[in-house]
Amino acid sequence: MSDKTILRALRGEVLPTPPVWMMRQAGRYLPEYRATRAKAGDFLSLCYNPELAAEVTLQPIRRYGFDAAILFADILLIPQALGQELWFATGEGPRLTPVAGAEGLRAADAVHDTLSPVYETIRVLRRELPPQTTLIGFAGAPWTVATYMVAGRGTPDQGPAHLLKDTDRAAFTGLIDRVTQATVEYLSAQVDAGAEVIKLFDSWAGSLKGADFDDFALTPARTIIAELKRRHPGIPVIAFPREAGERYVGFARAVGADCLAVDNSVSPEWAAQLQADGCVQGNLAPHHLVNPERLEEETARVVEAFRGGPHIFNLGHGITPDADPDNVARMIEAIRRRR
Ligand code: CP3
Repeated sequence: MSDKTILRALRGEVLPTPPVWMMRQAGRYLPEYRATRAKAGDFLSLCYNPELAAEVTLQPIRRYGFDAAILFADILLIPQALGQELWFATGEGPRLTPVAGAEGLRAADAVHDTLSPVYETIRVLRRELPPQTTLIGFAGAPWTVATYMVAGRGTPDQGPAHLLKDTDRAAFTGLIDRVTQATVEYLSAQVDAGAEVIKLFDSWAGSLKGADFDDFALTPARTIIAELKRRHPGIPVIAFPREAGERYVGFARAVGADCLAVDNSVSPEWAAQLQADGCVQGNLAPHHLVNPERLEEETARVVEAFRGGPHIFNLGHGITPDADPDNVARMIEAIRRRR
């Protein structure tokens, strides 16, 4: 069995110092990321360039020595691989030609044609990462991916997907099913290429209530994880149903995940109860890396709160472009000082 710290925490070990990585650790707050993106031309060209995508994945590992590297790619590559047009308007986020169901989309197993450079990035990374660093692959969860596919962009409440779900359940379910199957193919190929852990990002899970949460957050995650573990026995999975609130309780067990990632809308003291089901990842608020007045104190609070169970230290959401890189070093020092 591997003694990499992230893999030990995912197996349920309680470590004296929690392993640490950050969502969006390869990103715009780093000058070296901005330089490499400029060299690639634009964000999508960077995602599909294995050498440069591996380079930006490695940058935060070199700078900070995080315990995990996360593959550099995006959750919206799946819609593109299914045939939807995707582009990133500078400073405005993603744009897609909206869809109202699975009609016109490619078959799930056709996604490899577009996504094979991502698998190559993983192979490059497995050669170049330090031996103690765990490589995390990922995909968006079907609900979150579908919200962008239907709206054609990010919106304040992803209302267009909610409308389709409520007015044409059959078409919406068809879309969710296609994305679910495509995600299985994509993640399975990531594991074949060398990803050691898989994370499923459901950034908009918190907008689903009641039975909708079961149908569109819980069930697709369970389907994906079951099939992934059937094809790759023992592959650890981190589920992130962001802003699920009380629906965090029992989620990891219900979907078969090894670890539950929690956002910072819940307190670490409350979230520590979730360690009864296994490893929990989280949950420092990203703004402490912008305004560091309480950075050390809040970092220590998260470490203390989760000390009694398996824990991977992370933020509650991605680090923002206005964060100061020096504050990341201070955060890591505060975690490791506490052993
Ligand atoms: O975490 C990492 O470092 C790995 C790479 C990664 C990116 N996006 C790179 C990225 C991961 C895991 C994602 C996930 C992602 N992408 C999510 C789920 C997590 C979350 O943040 O809620 C979502 C919803 C997306 C879709 C997406 N991609 C949006 C809405 C945007 C625009 C907003 C923004 O932050 O710029 C992106 C762009 C994006 N994805 C960037 C990066 C580094 C910024 C692009 C740039 O360089 O300008």
